[in-house]
Amino acid sequence: MAAQISTGTSELRDITKMERIGAHSHIRGLGLDDRLEPRGNSQGMVGQGKARKAAGMILKMVQEGRIAGRAILFAGPPSTGKTAIALGMAQNLGADVPFTMIAASEVFSLSMSKTEALTQAIRRSIGVRIREETELIEGEVVEIQIDRSLTGATKTGKLTIKTTDMETVYDLGNKMIDALSKEKVLAGDVVAIDKTTGKISKLGRSFARSRDYDAMGADTKFVQCPEGEIQKRKEIVHTISLHEIDVINSRTQGFLALFAGDTGEIKPELRDQINTKVAEWREEGKAEIIPGVLFIDEVHMLDIECFSFLNRALESELSPLVIMASNRGMSRIRGTTFRSPHGLPVDLLDRVLIVSTKPYEEEDIQQIIQIRCEEEDVTLSTDALAVLTSMATQTTLRYALNLISCAQIIARKRKVSEVEVEDLRRAYTYFMDEKRSVQWLKEQQGSLVFEEIGKEGEVVREGVVDLEKDAMDSS
Ligand SMILES: Nc1ncnc2c1ncn2[C@@H]1O[C@H](COP(=O)(O)OP(=O)(O)OP(=O)(O)O)[C@@H](O)[C@H]1O
Ligand SMILES: [Mg+2]
Repeated sequence: MAAQISTGTSELRDITKMERIGAHSHIRGLGLDDRLEPRGNSQGMVGQGKARKAAGMILKMVQEGRIAGRAILFAGPPSTGKTAIALGMAQNLGADVPFTMIAASEVFSLSMSKTEALTQAIRRSIGVRIREETELIEGEVVEIQIDRSLTGATKTGKLTIKTTDMETVYDLGNKMIDALSKEKVLAGDVVAIDKTTGKISKLGRSFARSRDYDAMGADTKFVQCPEGEIQKRKEIVHTISLHEIDVINSRTQGFLALFAGDTGEIKPELRDQINTKVAEWREEGKAEIIPGVLFIDEVHMLDIECFSFLNRALESELSPLVIMASNRGMSRIRGTTFRSPHGLPVDLLDRVLIVSTKPYEEEDIQQIIQIRCEEEDVTLSTDALAVLTSMATQTTLRYALNLISCAQIIARKRKVSEVEVEDLRRAYTYFMDEKRSVQWLKEQQGSLVFEEIGKEGEVVREGVVDLEKDAMDSS
């Protein structure tokens, strides 16, 4: 079986990549210029210059294929753009370089072991660029002649194709005749037929026939009749991730699992075989490895076993660039009782380059709000923009961004298109931010259910909230 490692079709990719956009849909890149200097406001990105520049430098190294097996950590307070920057990187990476994004907690929620989930994520982030040569028949159709047998069960026919230099007649069988009629190929069309798969693609209509028919749609494309030989060799290049090769070749799953996303565990032996095969392809010059990027958001949610697995994985030959993000300061490493910076063990921290993100200035916040308004198609009056900006500084950026769409609905009810301060005020009273919610809890004390967890994880106390007593206990 080792000899038959197939790669499937390149159309299979991209399925698992289009998730989790929405809060970041305004991010179109990192907004850097050619010298990697951050522009003030570009591609949906504002401020956070140092981190963006650092991200740009990392990107450059990935694109040059020079760094793999390294790790970067974006560390900073909540809503300072860590996830946004990672997504900006993904957009600047180019379609060919794989980018996988997972949230650390996903590793625990799948129906497979933690290390398997991590291995899949890692292999998803390594691309294999494969070159294949195919033979094409390309030319203008001169004539299609189909003979049906008396019963209609079998069809035979002849297809005449020409280029500017030559003309050839091909015999047609049932399958090709069906394919030609499905594509509605007529005399005068310029077509390309893949000899190995028999796939027919219509390239357009020949210029020479442009006056023959009046009844042609506006979208008809006219092309020149091809020159040279009818049979051509063409090199096609497609990129597929190691994980996709794994899934396609795993007997129990089959490639359909790629669509379902439910791939189950993949046997280590199969992975070994694939690694050897890919290495062979590399030596023969048929394939090229493209180390991509694996982004692990909320990385402090991984536990000590995952961390030590990552340590190891980073050192293997087939390793992507791993980017992590964490908003924790000193915190407990999951699965242990130790505390450590960012919730990451020190031996892993030692291997990563740390990029810090800082809270935004008021000016940046205002611009981010403006960008989001454009993205959500909301017009704010100048006063409303100022009010929302000051709300953001007093509460959080995320809260302010969330209010935009709420305020718009309120404005729409008043049948005006511009959101005014009054609409924001009302949205502000409908929805609480975290601070006010805590305040409200204090006021409501005695009516909410609580559960207090002891050091060993056992429930110590259960009942209704008594924040005043709690406050006294802790002071
Ligand atoms: N520099 C920026 N330019 C434009 N939009 C930004 C920028 N930074 C953050 N945002 C937007 O602000 C919101 C919050 O940012 P983001 O989710 O990236 O924060 P985070 O650092 O990942 O926070 P957390 O630690 O809570 O995950 C998002 O909608 C994001 O798109
Ligand atoms: Mg985030």
